[in-house]
Amino acid sequence: MIDDKRIMEKLNAEPCFRSPDIAVVLGSGLGSLADREENESISYSTIPAFPQPTVEGHGGKIVFAEFGSNNVMMFQGRFHFYEGYPMDVVTLFPRLAALLGARLYLVTNAAGGVNRAFHPGDLMVIRDHLNLMGVNPLIGRNRDELGPRFPDMTHAYDPEFSRKLVTCGKDAGLDLREGVYAALTGPSYETPAEINMLRTMGADAIGMSTVPEVIVARHAGLKVCGISCITNLAAGVTDQPLSHAEVLETGERVKYDFVKIISSFLESVSV
Ligand code: HPA
Repeated sequence: MIDDKRIMEKLNAEPCFRSPDIAVVLGSGLGSLADREENESISYSTIPAFPQPTVEGHGGKIVFAEFGSNNVMMFQGRFHFYEGYPMDVVTLFPRLAALLGARLYLVTNAAGGVNRAFHPGDLMVIRDHLNLMGVNPLIGRNRDELGPRFPDMTHAYDPEFSRKLVTCGKDAGLDLREGVYAALTGPSYETPAEINMLRTMGADAIGMSTVPEVIVARHAGLKVCGISCITNLAAGVTDQPLSHAEVLETGERVKYDFVKIISSFLESVSV
């Protein structure tokens, strides 16, 4: 079991630590938001009990920054179920965010486009999700101090904050997509048959993360909103084979728009 208390003590003792209003997790290839020069950061490797990421494109640090009047804590590099981490590690960020006093959890990720109207480089505000990982991070004894046994998931992605993301996109001259994010465990990409099944089930985008974090965030009473970067068309949409290199390349290509939208959201939102 991960020692949340020990991690919090270490973070609290850091000179750059500020109690967060908003926590942000930056997905594959989307870490550049955290790379502003004025930001101060703590490397995961210096925090006792903190796991270390194993995936290329994931940095491995917590960054503290101010956006407007909001204190923002950014996690650059997440822990995936496919890396073999148990669910308490996969969902460490939203739990820490809640324990440290954040009120909003903003998720970002790289995802494959299942919706045939999507193109690589599109940004999609997540309206809802499908948990197809075959596991729920809240299984086991309920931590009553964090939240209820049976948390409601009707508005898992806060409608008001989601609208605000769309508005920030419009203001930046970008038409954001909206849709349903489905999560499978990975690490293999999907087959074309699986993608057809997912489309029938209502998925617009497919990825290997985010959903466990959102469940834990909602359990702990955090509001949630999120953006998927459509880094590639999902398997079978074209004949192109999929690769992680393509995922990172698209992330690199859209990072300017991505940073612009997320920054203006973080600067102007009140939580
Ligand atoms: N499938 C699953 N996860 C992904 C994809 C995909 O096509 N692209 C980026 N993450």
